[in-house]
Amino acid sequence: MKILMIGSGGREHALIKKLQTSPKCDKLFCAPGNGGISRDAEVVNIGVMDKENMVKFARDNDIDLVFVAPDDPLADGMVDAMQQAGIRAFGPNANAAIIEASKVFSKNLMKKYNIPTAKYEVFDNAEKAVEYVKSENVAPVVVKADGLALGKGVIIAQTVDEAVTAIKEIMEDKKFGDSGNNIVIEEFLTGPEVSVLAFTDGKTVKPMVSSKDHKRAYDNDEGLNTGGMGTVSPNPYYTDEIANECMETIFKPTIAAMNAEGRPFKGCLYFGLMITPNGPKVIEYNARFGDPEAQVVLPRLKTDLVDICEAVIDEKLDELDIEWYDGAAACVVMASGGYPLSYKKGIEMFGLDENGGVDGAIVYHAGTKYENGKFFTNGGRVLGVTAKADTLDEALNKAYAAVDKINFEGAHFRHDIGKTK
Ligand code: AMP
Ligand code: GLY
Repeated sequence: MKILMIGSGGREHALIKKLQTSPKCDKLFCAPGNGGISRDAEVVNIGVMDKENMVKFARDNDIDLVFVAPDDPLADGMVDAMQQAGIRAFGPNANAAIIEASKVFSKNLMKKYNIPTAKYEVFDNAEKAVEYVKSENVAPVVVKADGLALGKGVIIAQTVDEAVTAIKEIMEDKKFGDSGNNIVIEEFLTGPEVSVLAFTDGKTVKPMVSSKDHKRAYDNDEGLNTGGMGTVSPNPYYTDEIANECMETIFKPTIAAMNAEGRPFKGCLYFGLMITPNGPKVIEYNARFGDPEAQVVLPRLKTDLVDICEAVIDEKLDELDIEWYDGAAACVVMASGGYPLSYKKGIEMFGLDENGGVDGAIVYHAGTKYENGKFFTNGGRVLGVTAKADTLDEALNKAYAAVDKINFEGAHFRHDIGKTK
């Protein structure tokens, strides 16, 4: 089979490295890819939102399977465009990807179908929202822009004043553009967070092994929110008992709710959960693999990913037994100095072999460029250095040992992945 991956981050590199191991995969393309990906697949210079050229490329090159990995092209109907051209594509249609693209949609869905989540109110008007947070007078309180905002549209306001500022920045100053035309104001929940990605064909839902993301930039969960600075799998807080409860109260009801709304979800559905004192609740849904969750979940996948993609597309997931390796995996993200704020690009990287790897770990490239046999930084999150082992401690030791072998000016990473709640 010829397979086209759409995207350019560490998640896409992890998907590519997994697809590569499939006996069914003859040729892999990635649009637009990155430096590290270019060592594993043929990179194609087409932007992720360019439906017309993407479809043309897939058609001209007899692509058998397109994998749409990032949120924006899913929300924009990349899968729909491929299907209309008769090309098989993995990922939800736009009408289902809305579960991530609109927080107002997902919150209303959960309320309507009794899926546990934080209490909330929706506002399309800044004045009313300000009035509400002042009259409730509860803090912390969470302010969320409705639409996609590069993972930055969520503000945990520690005081009512901070909430007022956040509302004004999102709704009046349009800090996140049109994503902030509507906002959700919600109850602040506490407890460990768990990421559960699940394959679903709209009928059957098969959760993958659990994982845990570390979103803050610095050790001890200090600093700004990022796209994710590291992950471990399994998530130590996700017991079998909690998993069973989530299946009955969250996973199955979500699939059923999307069907009832006439928006069957096919692809990878990401449940961002919080294990609160009152049980597991949904913090957010994503319509795709998490990044860097994919980097610790996929190395643990035993079953052929191509078979899974086909079963999802053909709605035969119930017939497939998905197997996982025991043990654990850990991913440490190496980021550019300054990330998640501004950072330099084009800094030469040292310690990587000619394929962008190092001994003892799997190095997924997120923001790199490859030129004349050298790798250069080309993004905020640069690498996801990942290791697998029998125990989480061993996996972490291996990943950190590999991180020590790599350097580039300004590099920063967290030293406490797998250690905080
Ligand atoms: P999101 O961008 O939706 O992933 O949210 C970013 C982070 O904000 C989450 O991973 C949580 O840590 C935090 N968060 C979101 N909603 C809540 C909430 N209702 N209570 C507490 N923390 C939250
Ligand atoms: N790691 C969180 C996300 O992919 O949204």
